[in-house]
Amino acid sequence: MNAEPWIVVDQFLGECLLPVDAGLEGALATNAREQLPAIDVSPLQGRFLNLLATLLGARRILEFGTLGGYSTICLARALPSDGLLVTLEAEPRHARVARGNIDRAGVGDRVVIREGKALESLAWVRAEHPAPFDLVFIDADKPNTTEYFRGALEMSHPGTVIVADNVVRKGEVANAASTDASVLGMRRFLEAVSREPRVQATALQTVGAKGHDGFLIARVR
Ligand code: SAH
Ligand code: DHB
Ligand code: MG
Repeated sequence: MNAEPWIVVDQFLGECLLPVDAGLEGALATNAREQLPAIDVSPLQGRFLNLLATLLGARRILEFGTLGGYSTICLARALPSDGLLVTLEAEPRHARVARGNIDRAGVGDRVVIREGKALESLAWVRAEHPAPFDLVFIDADKPNTTEYFRGALEMSHPGTVIVADNVVRKGEVANAASTDASVLGMRRFLEAVSREPRVQATALQTVGAKGHDGFLIARVR
């Protein structure tokens, strides 16, 4: 069976452009062994997040949805040694696997994993890490994306960038008749962003190793 062309191209682009990263490769191997769902960002997408954090000179990053810490490691690699990444994860098993992966990747000193439902962790983040975040990556349960966006806005400064994963869902986001809770969550999120005067935003479709999906990218005014 032939692989979809975008899978072949992602493989090729990865071989061309991505540095060997034993921490990231080790994380994927551990996630597979621990049978975590393979729904991390792709390697090229992870590099995009890393580049974005570098471009921003980010020192403080907030992440919703850790899984095994693949995106976390990508983002944390862009931080200075005194930087901070707070990542929120509901599943204790995911948080445990992520802790090991993140420590083995050598960025454990910069990463705080908060176990618990992200909505409930927001008050803790505000209390324990009150300074605003420079970059926020929203990638947890999709129905709550709007609530995470509102939480992120409250913890932002002018220039903070908020990125949300999985806004396209194989094109289903454009299907007004969809009854899928994740799709409905993303449609509600896009509506909320469009009505939010405090941000300027766009969405970019992506196609690659993770199929057809997309990122929303917003900058806080
Ligand atoms: N960002 C990761 C992938 C995250 S997958 C990466 O790219 O590597 C989504 C994660 O969100 C899963 O680990 C899931 O357990 C977690 N999650 C689901 N509901 C959540 C909630 N209410 N609060 C926090 N995390 C949640
Ligand atoms: C799926 C993909 C993701 O990137 C994610 O964060 C959650 C779920 C999926 O394909 O089901
Ligand atoms: Mg995702």
